[in-house]
Amino acid sequence: MSTSDSDTIADTPATAEPQENANRKQPFPKGFLDTISTGWAERPDAAPVERAQASFAAARRRAVSAAFPGRRLVIPAGSLKQRSNDTDYPFRAHSAFAHLTGWGSDAVPDSVLVFDPFDDGHTATVYLRERADRTTAEFYADATVGEFWIGPRPALAGVAADLGIATAHLADFAPAPGDVVLDADADLTRYVSELRLVKDAYEIEQMRQAVAVTARGFDDIVADLPRIAQTPRGERAVEGIFHHRARVEGNGEGYDTIAASGPHACYLHWTRNDGPVVAGDLILIDAGAEVDSLYTADITRTLPVSGTFTPTQRKIYEAVREAADAAFAAARPGVTFRSVHEAAMRVIAARVAEWGLLPVTAEEALDADNGGQHRRYMVHGTSHHLGIDVHDCAQARREMYYDGILEAGMVFTIEPGLYFQIDDLTVPEEFRGIGVRIEDDILMTADGPENLSAGIPRTADEVEAWIARLTA
Ligand code: GLY
Ligand code: MN
Repeated sequence: MSTSDSDTIADTPATAEPQENANRKQPFPKGFLDTISTGWAERPDAAPVERAQASFAAARRRAVSAAFPGRRLVIPAGSLKQRSNDTDYPFRAHSAFAHLTGWGSDAVPDSVLVFDPFDDGHTATVYLRERADRTTAEFYADATVGEFWIGPRPALAGVAADLGIATAHLADFAPAPGDVVLDADADLTRYVSELRLVKDAYEIEQMRQAVAVTARGFDDIVADLPRIAQTPRGERAVEGIFHHRARVEGNGEGYDTIAASGPHACYLHWTRNDGPVVAGDLILIDAGAEVDSLYTADITRTLPVSGTFTPTQRKIYEAVREAADAAFAAARPGVTFRSVHEAAMRVIAARVAEWGLLPVTAEEALDADNGGQHRRYMVHGTSHHLGIDVHDCAQARREMYYDGILEAGMVFTIEPGLYFQIDDLTVPEEFRGIGVRIEDDILMTADGPENLSAGIPRTADEVEAWIARLTA
C-alpha cells in the first residue's frame, strides 16, 4: 500500500500542533492547494439504464412495506470493517440491504435504505455518500473515501437510475426516535430473513451463474492437481486457484474456501489451508463463487489426489454419495426441510452400523431421544438454505426453517459427509484420517428438486474420469 495522508485535511496548517499518527503527514503547499481542484474535465452523466434486478427488489420492498404499516424502517448497508491499523476488509453490503435494493458488489459503504410511511404504504430512499466535489479536501486527501485514493463514487442520479429507487445524500439522513432498525429490531430482522426463503426468478438465475463459475473453479483445481501435489502448501494453491476464478468472473468467494487434504478433511471448516496435498490422500474442497449480485454457490467435492480412490476411500465415498442421493430423493415440495436430513441420516447410520462402528443397531442409533451414535462421524446438518448468504435466512424461525415446508423456489444444499478423525479409536485404522463430503446446490421446483451443480462430477467413477480427462 502506498503512503497515505488518510486523515490529513488540505487546510491543516503546517504549524498545527503535532497529532497522534501525524508522523507521516506532509502539509500540502500552497501551489498544490491553488491548483488541485481545477483542470478536470466534466464527468459524463451515468446512462439511465435500470438493472435487471430493479423490479424484483421493488417487489421485495412492497412485501416489507405491507408487513410494517406506518413504521419508519431503516436498513443500513453497513460500514467498512477494520482489518488492522488503517487497512480495512473489502466492503460487502449487508445481505438484507443488497436483497432489498438490488445493489451488490458496487454498493457504497455506509448507505442506508429507509422506508418512510406514506399514504397506506411507504416511500423508499437510498441515502448514500455521493461522490465528493473536486473542490473538497476529501477528493485528494481522504484515503478511506476520497476519489484520488479509492476511485470515484457514483452520483445520486446514476444510482437512482440503476436501482430504480429514489436516492438522497447521506448527510440528509437523520435517525429518528421510533425508527425500526435492522438487526436492532428482532421482528424486522426475522422478516427480511424469511423473505429470502423463496427465491425469485432473478435470484435463481444468479444462483445458476454462481454455480457455473464455481464449476469452472473446480475444473481449474482438477486440471492443476499434479502441480498442486508438488507445492509444499498445496492446500493454499487450491485456495488460490479457486480465488482466481471467483475473482475474475465474480465478486469473489461467498465464504473462505476449505481446502482440506488428508486428515484435515475431518475438520469441517478447515480454512487454514496450510498443508500439503499428498498423493494417495483425498482432498476435500468446499468452495463457492459469489457473483457481483452477491449470490453464492456452496459446493464440495472430495478428490483422490492421485486420480484413483483406494478401495477403502471408495467405500466411504460411495456411502456418502448414497446418503446424498437419498436426501435428494426425499426432497420435494410439501415435505419438511428436516426430512431431507433424516433421509441422509438413515443411510449414514446403516452404513456405519454395517461396518461395525456402532455400539448399537442402526435403528437404535436413529432413535430421536436415545440414539445419535452415528452422528460422531457426521456432526453437521445435511442442508442449509443458500442464496445471498452461504447460510441464508439464518434469522428465520425454526418453524420456517428446520421444521418448515419445502416450497418451489427454495434453494438449499445437500451435503452429507463421513469424517473419521485421525485418532478415532472406534474405527479401523484404515479409516482414520479419511474425510468425505459431497455437497450440491438444489433448487426446489413444483416438479421436484433440480440439482444445480449436477454438471460437476459426483460419483466415484465420474470423479476419477474427470481427473483423468483434465490431467491427461
Ligand atoms: N460451506 C460451508 C458450510 O456450509 O458450512
Ligand atoms: Mn454448505
